Amino acid sequence: MEVVILPDADAVARFVADSIEHLLSARPNPVLGLATGSSPLGTYAELVRRHRAGVITFAAATAFLLDEYIGLPVGHPESYRAFIETHFAGQVDIDPRNVHVPGGTAVGAALDKACAQYEADIRAAGGVDLQLLGIGADGHLGFNEPTSSLASRTRIKTLTDRTRHDNARFFDGLDDVPRHVVTQGIGTILDARHLVLIATGASKAAPVALAVEGPLTSMCPASAIQLHPTATVVIDEAAASQLTLADYFRDTFAHKPRWQS
Ligand code: F6R
Repeated sequence: MEVVILPDADAVARFVADSIEHLLSARPNPVLGLATGSSPLGTYAELVRRHRAGVITFAAATAFLLDEYIGLPVGHPESYRAFIETHFAGQVDIDPRNVHVPGGTAVGAALDKACAQYEADIRAAGGVDLQLLGIGADGHLGFNEPTSSLASRTRIKTLTDRTRHDNARFFDGLDDVPRHVVTQGIGTILDARHLVLIATGASKAAPVALAVEGPLTSMCPASAIQLHPTATVVIDEAAASQLTLADYFRDTFAHKPRWQS
C-alpha cells in the first residue's frame, strides 16, 4: 500500500486527477470506478477543469458507480446518479450510456437480478482500471458497513444509524435518508486494478488509521484495501494525524525511486 500525505484537500484533488489523467492517456478504453460523497468532489472539479482546458477527454471512458440509495425517486438530487451527473459526468464528454449505477432502474425483487447484472457489466467492460474510494466514519467502503463480508459482491445493504446520521446533512432530515442501498461488494472493489482512497479532514483521521494500520477486519471494511497489491491512500495532513507511521509514509513518498510513477 502506498500512503501519500499532502498538505491540503486541493493538493489531494490534483494528485488524484493526475493519476486519472495518466490512465486516460495510457488505456484506449479506460474504465473508472466512481465514488460519490464529499471526498472526491475536488478531484471531479479538477477533472472538469482539465477537460474544459482541452487536456483530457472521457469520450472513450466507461464508469461504474460504487453505490446507490434504494427508494429515492428518479432524478432526486441526492441520488448518486444525479450526484455524478451534476459533479462530473454531465460536465465532461463521457457518453451517458457508459455511466453505470448499481441497481439501475430496478425496483423490488428485480434488484437482486440487477446486482448480478452489474457484476456482469463490470466484467464485460474488462474490469475497473482505477477505483476511487472514500471512507466512512465507521470505516465503511462503498456502502459496505461494518461486518460486511470481505468477499462480498454487489448486493443490497442496510445502512447503520451512524451513516444515516452522517449523510443526513445532504437531506432535509434524518427521516429522508434511505435505509437501504445497493453497493459494490468488497470483493467487487478488490477486483479493480488500482484502488485510490481519498480522505481529507480531521474527522477521517481515526478511520484512516484503522484502515491503513489496524487489523484486517470486517469491523473496518476499508481495512480490506490491505489485501490489494496496488492501493494508494491519498490524504491531507489532518486525515493523516492519527497514523503512527506518518513520517515513514512521507519519507517513502519523498524518496520514491524515479522509475516508479
Ligand atoms: C460514496 C461511498 C461512501 C463514501 C463515504 C465517505 O459513493 O461509497 O463510502 O465514500 O461515506 O463519504 P464522504 O466523502 O461524504 O465523507
